[in-house]
Amino acid sequence: MPSILITSANRGLGLEFARQYAAEGWRIFAACRNPDSASDLEKLAHSRAVTVLPMDVTDLASIRRGAARLNGEPIDVLLNSAGISGKPGQRMGNIDYESWAQVLDVNTMGPIRVTEAFVEHVARSERKLVVTITSGLGSIADNTSGGSIPYRTSKAAVNMAMRSAAIDLAPRGISCVLVNPGWVKTDMGGPNAPLTPSESVAALKRLIATFGLTHSGKFFHYDGREYAW
Ligand SMILES: NC(=O)c1ccc[n+]([C@@H]2O[C@H](COP(=O)([O-])OP(=O)(O)OC[C@H]3O[C@@H](n4cnc5c(N)ncnc54)[C@H](OP(=O)(O)O)[C@@H]3O)[C@@H](O)[C@H]2O)c1
Repeated sequence: MPSILITSANRGLGLEFARQYAAEGWRIFAACRNPDSASDLEKLAHSRAVTVLPMDVTDLASIRRGAARLNGEPIDVLLNSAGISGKPGQRMGNIDYESWAQVLDVNTMGPIRVTEAFVEHVARSERKLVVTITSGLGSIADNTSGGSIPYRTSKAAVNMAMRSAAIDLAPRGISCVLVNPGWVKTDMGGPNAPLTPSESVAALKRLIATFGLTHSGKFFHYDGREYAW
């Protein structure tokens, strides 16, 4: 049975990934900040092979505790999903630097912290795949509308970080791929987004099934198109 570790498995895209992979019989390691209030995840964990791990992606100690608890377990796919958008309306003249630092901590350093801590679990698996959810807003080439400086920079930076990780980890056969889920109806995406979590995740799962070393260090749209940096 393949296995997947998902950060932010309590709601939004992370929860939907947990549901869809669990329905296919995957072993799920579901990380979230507050398992005690993760009622949807708890329901899923009753009926499927789901292990819930308390993990805050800004807290290295909590990540290392999770890695130690899974010591010896192979993880086929490590899915970095946790993310925040920070305070709204942050364009030139209106930047909140504390909020920006927090966004970088979660969105840029978070995926690298988790990948470093779980690299041995991934190396031990068959698929050896790290997938990080970035955003079209992290594309420098695509930025014609401005604004969202904290969020955009956090995603552009995680793109660069994972491109380096892809090169650093290639000798161990580990692939690191970046994906844009599209604009999705979650707490972050809001009610006007055109995609449901179920549609976005189904498309991303089809894509993830094809990923290997030839995709490593690249950035893909959920529909399979390669995205401009
Ligand atoms: N929705 C979209 O349209 C869209 C578009 C492009 C990219 N994305 C990206 O997709 C990913 C998932 O977003 P979403 O739409 O599912 O957002 P969401 O519904 O707002 O959920 C965000 C998730 O991240 C978790 N999280 C926040 N800070 C965390 C931390 N420090 N440690 C661990 N978990 C933390 C939240 O946990 P709590 O419940 O504990 O707060 C929650 O589970 C993010 O990386 C986001 O940037 C989303």
